[in-house]
Amino acid sequence: MTSILHFADIHFGVEDQSALAKLGATIDKLEPDISVISGDITQTGSEEEFARAAEWIAGLAGPKVITAGNHDTPMYGIIDRMMKPFDRYADYIDPLDIGLFEDENVIIQSMNTARGVQMKLDWSVGVVDLDRLDTVIARFHESDWNKLRLLNVHHPFIYPPESPLQKTTDNGPEALKRLADGNCDMVLSGHVHVPFVVERKPGGSELLSVSSGTLSTRRRDNNPAFNHIAVTADELVITMIEFDGEGFVRSEAFRKPRHELSAWRRDGYETMRKKAKILDTQPLREP
Ligand SMILES: [Fe+2]
Repeated sequence: MTSILHFADIHFGVEDQSALAKLGATIDKLEPDISVISGDITQTGSEEEFARAAEWIAGLAGPKVITAGNHDTPMYGIIDRMMKPFDRYADYIDPLDIGLFEDENVIIQSMNTARGVQMKLDWSVGVVDLDRLDTVIARFHESDWNKLRLLNVHHPFIYPPESPLQKTTDNGPEALKRLADGNCDMVLSGHVHVPFVVERKPGGSELLSVSSGTLSTRRRDNNPAFNHIAVTADELVITMIEFDGEGFVRSEAFRKPRHELSAWRRDGYETMRKKAKILDTQPLREP
């Protein structure tokens, strides 16, 4: 079994200290193999917030795959925000990030969808660099076909009705299409501060969009929360875990048999190979 912790929007500076104080014992019970953090690690991108965030992340046992959010650029200091938006993030967080995680069940990669400044009024909007996305998909293709492929981003590519925030990530629809065509299984995100799982079947393939809640005090009618994702040889189980004021409790769970996620892909691959063989062995006819 691969045990994945999925956090987002801890927003050090306005983190929920009572929730974080109880988190350690819960994490120990879940025996994580990997922690995924989907951005907005800080509130204003200050040195002090990054230092505290880095200390907390370093204290999490095991490897981490991390990406930045729009709050992880300097909120104060427009020159820094324009010229070197992710320098502090690089100083404090990059050394804690293994970049890519792969075991017998999953492969996980990150992609930064946050920007310092943009040619639009709302700088919090996410942007997908499609060339970078193609590189990520190409790396997925290098791994075994039966491993689940997870992409970690800050901004969701889809905003379901239960999201209190309704925006469009630039190139989000095209990114979803390329990921589905590229046989990606799951997009892990944050940003909206509300947990959700959305199942889609674009083009006959299957792609899950999974959002973590927040562990900050910036909540939108939800308890502080994070996700636990368990992947076995047979099943995928995504459990939302929320803080009820006293401790962390399991709330909703989403279950899916593994064969429904990856069997079509293996079959598709084998069919392609069979077809290729048939083509290979067909005698070339003289015109
Ligand atoms: Fe956030």
